[in-house]
Amino acid sequence: MSGLILGIETSCDDTSAALVDRSGHVAAIRTVSQFEIHDSFGGVYPELASRAHLEAILPVIGEVMDEAGVTPRDLTAIGVTRGPGLIGSLLVGLSTAEALSMGWGVPAYGVNHLRGHIRSVALEGGVTDHPAVVMLVSGGHTLIAEVTDAWTCRLLGTTRDDSVGESYDKVARMLGFGMPGGPAIDRAAKAGTATLRLPRPMKNEGYEFSFSGLKSSVARHVETHPEISPEDMSASFVAACIEVLAAKAERALVECRPKSLVIVGGVAASPQLRAAMAEVADRHGVALCLPPVTWATDNAAMIAMATWDYLDRGVQPDLVPKPNLPLEM
Ligand code: KG4
Ligand code: ZN
Repeated sequence: MSGLILGIETSCDDTSAALVDRSGHVAAIRTVSQFEIHDSFGGVYPELASRAHLEAILPVIGEVMDEAGVTPRDLTAIGVTRGPGLIGSLLVGLSTAEALSMGWGVPAYGVNHLRGHIRSVALEGGVTDHPAVVMLVSGGHTLIAEVTDAWTCRLLGTTRDDSVGESYDKVARMLGFGMPGGPAIDRAAKAGTATLRLPRPMKNEGYEFSFSGLKSSVARHVETHPEISPEDMSASFVAACIEVLAAKAERALVECRPKSLVIVGGVAASPQLRAAMAEVADRHGVALCLPPVTWATDNAAMIAMATWDYLDRGVQPDLVPKPNLPLEM
């Protein structure tokens, strides 16, 4: 075995390591989630996240190396998330990668988490024709960008307040579901009917998003209309989110005329969103590129995949954490 990248992801609340070859084949992956640790806090508690990463990181790396029967000699490089993310969480991954890099004599690259999400569609043989329009919908981010090749990104718009994943999680909490909120809302929405007409914030305005008003609107209705079932409320909320996301994607397809529409990030695991985007892509005759559902959420395989681009571009390795790293860097 040779020519593998060891990817490490610790930007938020998942400790993940993976081994990925140049073609995107995932030789091994292990992800430890911290849902149970943060559930009672209503969001990720940064100090506890760093501590949990510290405990999990070396065992997780050891497990993927053992599972794939890989030694440090088989590694071309290590790729580790340097941002955006929580500073303490990033530092655990970065310092681990730095130590392994020195001990093993393997170069370590600090990788942009957002580029990782974008490259998640290249795992296991996925192909994206460029130029592409990319929509990244996750817990930390909601953005739309034009990507002209595997490296060059132009941000079209982002959210003014909450990310779409964050609003899924907050609505899930209002309705009494546990973490992670996204899958729980999806399941409930499937069993319900969108009986309530919720606002579609900024649907017809450019490429910016705003989800905090939609979340507040759900909160008001939960109080004033307790008779509406959690299933119908979920279905109404999902319908509003998806209508906004689909409208923005459609606008970008009309204005940028890309060859592909790429949807990535945790919310790209939503079957409702996948179906809506398939319709949009179909209407405009472009290919729809989605990551496998299991790799839509944070994972180290996408970080390893993105690391190949850093090698190909001759980017200087940089292990300085950047909690606010922008998409273009
Ligand atoms: O990409 P990700 O794992 O982390 C960030 O980079 O933020 O995204 C996590 C988000 C959470 O808000 C979670 O509720 C949402 O993705 N999510 C989903 C689904 N699975 C995860 N949202 C909708 N439907 C899902 N099936
Ligand atoms: Zn992410």
